[in-house]
Amino acid sequence: MTTLLDRLRAETRLSHEKTEHLLYSDDLRAGTLSPDAYRHLLLTHAAYHEALEQAIDQHPDFFDAYKPDTRRKTPWLQADLAQLQLVIPSLHPSVFADWSPVQLLGAAYVGEGSMLGGKTVWLYLQQSPALEPLLHKARFYRGYGPETGVKWKEFGAFISQKGAGQADLVVEAAGRAFQVYQELFGQTQADSRRELPQA
Ligand code: HEM
Repeated sequence: MTTLLDRLRAETRLSHEKTEHLLYSDDLRAGTLSPDAYRHLLLTHAAYHEALEQAIDQHPDFFDAYKPDTRRKTPWLQADLAQLQLVIPSLHPSVFADWSPVQLLGAAYVGEGSMLGGKTVWLYLQQSPALEPLLHKARFYRGYGPETGVKWKEFGAFISQKGAGQADLVVEAAGRAFQVYQELFGQTQADSRRELPQA
């Protein structure tokens, strides 16, 4: 039987590839990611996760078993950006505000799934010599660490239960959530290149 997660993986595969490519995957793999690009990645993830977490917080009953407090990435991103003297851009904090709880499942799939790829990205980041001084205290890309597998399994159980009978809606929303990522990447580009304040 095809599960909702199977469908999500299969039907958003091309969106994943496109997003991964857009988010500097060639430079990452080559070990040539620049500090500007690293800042840009953090700003993109921050804009996405802050908006998603705020939207999820509007539906505490529906997302109870998701345990939102154990999955927050905004504090990690705030800490990483603060190290680089940056703040989370308040571009579209309401980007998910009118998404229904079932649609938010699709956006949460994209956010949680990115923690799986994040493990690989963390290894790539460490291969970029220019980033070495920036990574000592980095938090976001360490993700859930050894808990990653368990968290993903728990998320799978949650989304299967809450998305039961609504697979088309969840899959469609996940596709749109990947597009949101791509749009936020474009919108955060300027911030990542702005002059840093003098110490
Ligand atoms: C260079 C960047 C990226 C790389 C190299 C990468 C790589 C990967 C890898 C290797 C997996 C499978 C991991 C596993 O099964 O244990 C994965 C899963 C996933 N990634 Fe990425 N990823 C990247 C960026 C992203 C981004 C930016 C997003 C979100 C916008 C994302 C969303 C996902 C999702 C949703 C899954 C789960 C797929 C499933 O259903 O199993 N990834 N990624």
